[in-house]
Amino acid sequence: MAQTETGVNRQIVLKRRPTGVVSEECFTLVEAPLTGPDELADGEALVRNIYLSVDPTQRGWISRDTYVPAIQPGEVIRSGSAGQVVASRSARLPEGTLVTGLTGWSEYAVVSGNVSPVAAGVDLRASMSVLGATGLTAYFGMLDIGRPRPGETVLVSGAAGATGSVAGQIARIQGARVVGLAGTAEKCAWLTGELGFTAAINYRRDDVPARLRETCPDGIDVYFDNVGGSLLELVLERIRLKARIVLCGAISQYSDEEPSPGPRNLMQLVIQRSRMEGFLVFDYLERYPEAVAQLSQWLRGGDLHYRVEIMEGLEAAPRALRALFTGGNTGKLLVQIAPEP
Ligand SMILES: NC(=O)c1ccc[n+]([C@@H]2O[C@H](COP(=O)([O-])OP(=O)(O)OC[C@H]3O[C@@H](n4cnc5c(N)ncnc54)[C@H](OP(=O)(O)O)[C@@H]3O)[C@@H](O)[C@H]2O)c1
Repeated sequence: MAQTETGVNRQIVLKRRPTGVVSEECFTLVEAPLTGPDELADGEALVRNIYLSVDPTQRGWISRDTYVPAIQPGEVIRSGSAGQVVASRSARLPEGTLVTGLTGWSEYAVVSGNVSPVAAGVDLRASMSVLGATGLTAYFGMLDIGRPRPGETVLVSGAAGATGSVAGQIARIQGARVVGLAGTAEKCAWLTGELGFTAAINYRRDDVPARLRETCPDGIDVYFDNVGGSLLELVLERIRLKARIVLCGAISQYSDEEPSPGPRNLMQLVIQRSRMEGFLVFDYLERYPEAVAQLSQWLRGGDLHYRVEIMEGLEAAPRALRALFTGGNTGKLLVQIAPEP
């Protein structure tokens, strides 16, 4: 039990709710007593977290009730995580097991049903990215709702992020032409280089309507939208007949104090007999094994690439969350708080 000798469990809790773009002042690091092995109840295990996830949806969780109850001031920040069982009274989770789940921004967590063992041989960083929530979101959103066909044009916003980068490649694997929207020249170069996108648009620098005309000359069949807001309105102007708009997220609006006006041109959906559909990855829980198997096969075959960026130390978690809203990440951003075994 060398890892738990200090008797202290450092955690990040909510100090106050954010206004505007989330900042480090909303959080505070506290030291809580560490649950000892003898204090575990039957069926429980103590996990030492190794990687913590930062996700745009946490901006909602710390603000208001969404599809889960809001985190209250003083509570540990709920988050995805990967870690190792260091003490156990659970037959399902023997000591040494690597697990992923929703444990929160803390060094240690007492778990029971809220984590799953990582399959043997699966890279822990992959299990927190391309084979984790963001990869699964890309898989179900693109294949179940977007349904791209060979030769169609698929546009992805937030394309160099964790979800968008996988979503675009899945469309490419289906034989579609794929165009990405991203916020820097480096991100655009990654999309059209390693990831094999047909084209990329730097939405911060380029003339977006002009570049959409150039890169999607026949219009857009599928829009995988991570961003919402004014980009969605621009894209609606170029959808084709029977287009599918996958509403995955709307990060451009998460920091708004008041709900922003919706796209003014929803009539485009009528004119083009098209549809928009939102989804949550959790709806597909029963089909996760199918997605993991297919994504793993594409990874092994070299068809699918992913990137993980790491910030070090528990203290970095609030800064990492903010980086998602300022475009500071390429691929999946994780916080590493302990070495991998
Ligand atoms: N429906 C679901 O079940 C589900 C599950 C997971 C994630 N999501 C959603 O998927 C989206 C992506 O999440 P992720 O975890 O993969 O994060 P991510 O894409 O890795 O990171 C967020 C990215 O969004 C871009 N961005 C930030 N503010 C923006 C703005 N105002 N306009 C345009 N782009 C902006 C930034 O890149 P740039 O440099 O390109 O601006 C940033 O890198 C989010 O909307 C999230 O809520 C949905």
